[in-house]
Amino acid sequence: MAAPRAALGPAPRGPPGAPHVTGRESGTSASAVAMAARSRGREAEPAAIWGAAGAQRGAVGADWERRPPQHQVSVPQRPRSPLQPEQLQDPASFPFCRTWRMMRPYGKALCAAGSLAALLAFFWTDTFQPGSLSGARVLLTGASAGIGEQMAYHYAAFGAEIVLTARREAVLQKVMEKCLTLGAKKVFYIPADMSSPSEPDKVVHFAVQKLGGLDYVVLNHIGVSPFQMWSGDVEHTRWLMQVNFFSYVALATAALPALEKSGGSVVVVSSLTGKVPTPFTTSYSATKFALDGFFSSLRHELTMQNSNVSITLCILGLIDTDTALEKTRGKVHISPSPAPEAALAIIRGGAARLHEVFYPRWLWHVHGLWVLLPSPRVLQSFYNYSGP
Ligand SMILES: NC(=O)c1ccc[n+]([C@@H]2O[C@H](COP(=O)([O-])OP(=O)(O)OC[C@H]3O[C@@H](n4cnc5c(N)ncnc54)[C@H](OP(=O)(O)O)[C@@H]3O)[C@@H](O)[C@H]2O)c1
Repeated sequence: MAAPRAALGPAPRGPPGAPHVTGRESGTSASAVAMAARSRGREAEPAAIWGAAGAQRGAVGADWERRPPQHQVSVPQRPRSPLQPEQLQDPASFPFCRTWRMMRPYGKALCAAGSLAALLAFFWTDTFQPGSLSGARVLLTGASAGIGEQMAYHYAAFGAEIVLTARREAVLQKVMEKCLTLGAKKVFYIPADMSSPSEPDKVVHFAVQKLGGLDYVVLNHIGVSPFQMWSGDVEHTRWLMQVNFFSYVALATAALPALEKSGGSVVVVSSLTGKVPTPFTTSYSATKFALDGFFSSLRHELTMQNSNVSITLCILGLIDTDTALEKTRGKVHISPSPAPEAALAIIRGGAARLHEVFYPRWLWHVHGLWVLLPSPRVLQSFYNYSGP
């Protein structure tokens, strides 16, 4: 018969011959096992602690007499997979729920925010209204070829008034004529080389004068740049910065007063390489990162000043323009998306005054994944490099 604890007097030290271990050491052993059990995602149960502690020969403490005999001690083995019928009735036993319970608060917050963002992105529809572009006054750069040319045709079909610019006059003239047949209200063009620092002011002045103001400034042009390993050509990088970045800053700055008057928009065409660094694009990638830095900061400032000018940054993946296909042929394992669709996505995003547009849309997930789990090896596997 079990006697009350007080009647037993000092606790015996264990069976004869058992090594002497203090109660503190015994407690340490038990708590270590408890911690180990917890780290495996299970609450340490008293029987499990007893059993595991008892399994350690010599871990005998002041409570020796309370330990159940060895043959009664069993470490409960929880079935893991597949789930047992009784577990199916208890949602808390599903692996996801167990993982969720083990997660730290910031992990849970991150997970919840990610899921919410994914849902929003999935069900998101912009507020684009084609009618809003009828009569809109648009300055479009890089309009003689590729995505810019396709944007010119879309704006024309929506009934916009357009100023086109690029370097090649003869090509601009052809694009202008096609725009007129597609329904543009007015079309003008001005040849300009954006590697010259004086050209941006001249172009904006021309556009404001011809159209009587501006509703959209669409910055899209790029200088020619190779798709290859860094060759050490610093001078080319400096030149590319002028064409792809400084001219954008100068054009937007010159157009801001006109855009303030109309509550207009700056639309900046960028690339995934301006969010995620990729191989073979050192200088180009640098110019696109610079655009993100400058225009995202400017957006903050305009908002803080209660300005009604919006800034839309467009992040594009590989698009099937002649120049892009020629440069990347045999060097990437990525299928290109169609330029007319990319052009429409840019126009819609600008008209809806979105902060950022990702085209194709799945690029948004690629970018999110890169931010959470950057994996250079996976990224590099999309690029061919057979050595120098
Ligand atoms: N295509 C893609 O895979 C891809 C991917 C991501 C992002 N993007 C972005 O989309 C935009 C358009 O790309 P795209 O592939 O359509 O380019 P593109 O076909 O090479 O066209 C470039 C345009 O810029 C003009 N341009 C070139 N050098 C110029 C200069 N020095 N001054 C003024 N204009 C100049 C060209 O006309 P002229 O030769 O007549 O001057 C042409 O109209 C760029 O901002 C690019 O970064 C493209």
